[in-house]
Amino acid sequence: MSPETLGPAGVSRPKPIASDSTPFGNPPGTLVGRFAGFLMALMNAPQNRMMVELLEVRPHDQVLEIGFGPGTALKMLAERASAGFVAGIELSDEMIRAATRHNRDAIQRGRLELKRGTVSAIPYDDNRFDKVCTANTIYFWPEPERDAAEIRRVMRPGGTLVVCFRCEPPEGKRPTRSLPPYPVAAVVETMEHAGFSDVRAEVRKVPLVMSASVVARKA
Ligand SMILES: C[S@@+](CC[C@H](N)C(=O)[O-])C[C@H]1O[C@@H](n2cnc3c(N)ncnc32)[C@H](O)[C@@H]1O
Repeated sequence: MSPETLGPAGVSRPKPIASDSTPFGNPPGTLVGRFAGFLMALMNAPQNRMMVELLEVRPHDQVLEIGFGPGTALKMLAERASAGFVAGIELSDEMIRAATRHNRDAIQRGRLELKRGTVSAIPYDDNRFDKVCTANTIYFWPEPERDAAEIRRVMRPGGTLVVCFRCEPPEGKRPTRSLPPYPVAAVVETMEHAGFSDVRAEVRKVPLVMSASVVARKA
């Protein structure tokens, strides 16, 4: 069991996992990193679909995905923002290479841009995006309230954020050791503390995991 800490309103949450401590937190440019990317593409697709659905992307939206991994959601986002623009930031050069391979067409057409970056210092201007999303990265955010405020900085007023994560193991199953489930109440607390409005959570059992998405708005 991972050690716990308390959020600003006293909600219990796991301590952040150091990204470099697991191949799922910063897949290296080795066979292990490539295999981690392959597993993520295979296992996280249902969660990525849930995240994209709840983001309600419109054709002209400017969209950002944080920690896109192998790039499963980027493809769906670029299809939906058909007259807009999609950006992605990632810690891992290996995942940037993988997502570039999977999304070459949209990149060549100037509709998708991938950059190295972290949730703690997003390499875009204030008020840049209508929609921001991230799946299975919150476990690694070094300072959740500050990182959520950094996301809010790059969002336009009226913009929507979706944070998707594993919240509980399916009945009778143990949590995976690499990515323990994250409490929904802690994510709601984080977003409210960072200044987001209309914060709500949706929990669904998707294939393999119990998935939560916290949806929030920048007023
Ligand atoms: C568990 S994977 C999830 C990938 C993908 N979103 C998915 O759902 O399949 C976490 C990803 O977030 C990236 N990551 C970890 N810490 C990050 C941070 N602080 N900022 C941005 N990306 C981060 C990792 O490199 C990794 O690709």
